[in-house]
Amino acid sequence: MRKTETTDVHDILRRAIDWAMEAGHIQREKFRSRHLFMETKSSIHDVVTEVDKACEALLIERISNRYPTHNILGEETGEHRNNPDAEWEWVVDPLDGTNNYSQGLPIYCVSIGVRYKGETQVGVVYVPFMDELFSAVRGEGASWNGRFIHVSRKTDLNECVLATGFPYDKGTNPINNLDNACAIIPNVRGIRRMGSAAYDLCCVASGLLDGYWELDLKPWDACAGALIVEEAGGIIKPFRNDRHISIVAGNKTIVEAIYQKLNANV
Ligand code: IPD
Ligand code: CA
Ligand code: CA
Repeated sequence: MRKTETTDVHDILRRAIDWAMEAGHIQREKFRSRHLFMETKSSIHDVVTEVDKACEALLIERISNRYPTHNILGEETGEHRNNPDAEWEWVVDPLDGTNNYSQGLPIYCVSIGVRYKGETQVGVVYVPFMDELFSAVRGEGASWNGRFIHVSRKTDLNECVLATGFPYDKGTNPINNLDNACAIIPNVRGIRRMGSAAYDLCCVASGLLDGYWELDLKPWDACAGALIVEEAGGIIKPFRNDRHISIVAGNKTIVEAIYQKLNANV
């Protein structure tokens, strides 16, 4: 068991799971509610609901109470610098897949990554509608509902089903992944746009998908899922440095095959 002076990763894992499931409970209760309050954020394509905010408030309250010296980065409320010297940071997407959620589509999740000195140690993704829990602790493998998982072992891109996504500024920024989709779609068995980056990464980790790429992700989209992929034997490869976090995920062979077809540019 890895310990620091004050914190045990397994204690963090247990609590992250409990709190992700608590937030998931709020999400299930309000799912398909006719009275869901929502508003737009960066553009008309980018929405936030009352449930995103309620879940983030719950997670911040739980984390701050139990770990008052840890910092928190939440999608909806930004940085909570509880301690200028903090080595631990919780990176929280309270509801990944808000567009799906607001439409009544069931692919959405809670994503919690926990970093020590900038390196992710614990990742938890809970998918309430399907009651599926993905988690990983660095160096200890990744699991899906308690069973160890491994990424797909396929090596031929033409046999692969991949996922991707498109950024909220796709209408105004020409670096919007449409070129990559055009280059890759003819060369794969299937392509999915699931609408939740954290869930996409978990599907790669468990072999439900053979690979995934996306540009312009934010830390809360990818922190937990990237660790879960790596701990499931996959790799995460960056492909450009001008659109926040831009990554390819899968086994090494498939990641290289996808990367070759991307406009990696920088
Ligand atoms: C979004 C989803 C989506 C991805 C976007 C993300 P949100 O997160 O993960 O699949 O394509 O880039 O911003 O807004 O639903 O938390
Ligand atoms: Ca997100
Ligand atoms: Ca979100």
